[in-house]
Amino acid sequence: MTSFDRSIKIAPSILSADFADFGREIQAIEAQGADWVHVDVMDGHFVPNLTFGPPLCKAIRPHIKTVMDVHLMISPVDTYIDAFADAGADVITAHLEAGPHIHRTLQAIRGAGCKAGLAINPGTGIDGIEYLLDQLDLICVMTVNPGFGGQKFIHSQIDKVRALRALIGDRPIHIEIDGGITPETAPLMAAAGADVLVAGSAVFKGGSVNNPAPYGENIRAIRSAAEAAR
Ligand code: DX5
Ligand code: ZN
Repeated sequence: MTSFDRSIKIAPSILSADFADFGREIQAIEAQGADWVHVDVMDGHFVPNLTFGPPLCKAIRPHIKTVMDVHLMISPVDTYIDAFADAGADVITAHLEAGPHIHRTLQAIRGAGCKAGLAINPGTGIDGIEYLLDQLDLICVMTVNPGFGGQKFIHSQIDKVRALRALIGDRPIHIEIDGGITPETAPLMAAAGADVLVAGSAVFKGGSVNNPAPYGENIRAIRSAAEAAR
């Protein structure tokens, strides 16, 4: 029996990549050690920013050798699940705040053949999540208000992660952290129980497709800080 993988995984957000060159950016971050590729989908309604949809996901899918981790910051969600599944998403994460029927949404994500993730905003508590645990493969704790990269980490979320980790117990559910992750903040979340660390600006800073070594240095700095805190 193989045990559930709770090792630290770094998931660069392509929100901080060069939008004119996603294919090569993805190849670069994977070559530099990324474990997952995090794709931030925004609708200009659930969050005050617009990014991209299923056609872009489909276009970049062949460049991803690891895991395509699609974070939907959209409302409604259900009408788009099949399109993101068809585009090749491995994980589809929907927000608890995106609609009244999150249980149905999570069922639909698994029904479409994907791993189901639940994201919760900084202002949302974890009451009631116990009733969703059987439908979940991942919980994404937002450590910024969703919508933009490069924001400051919200420290009050550390206690939330600790409580979630206790609630999850031995269940095969990842805890992902999204927003403001750096070598300074990653250890706080690793110590509290997180295993998937999304990072946009802290991974892409200082590098480019023609100079990808800084991506690797940034990924290694986040990973080693997080691993040392466990
Ligand atoms: C925020 C997105 C994040 C964001 C992370 O709405 O969900 O994935 O891009 O970016 P940084 O690491 O720059 O906070
Ligand atoms: Zn995200």
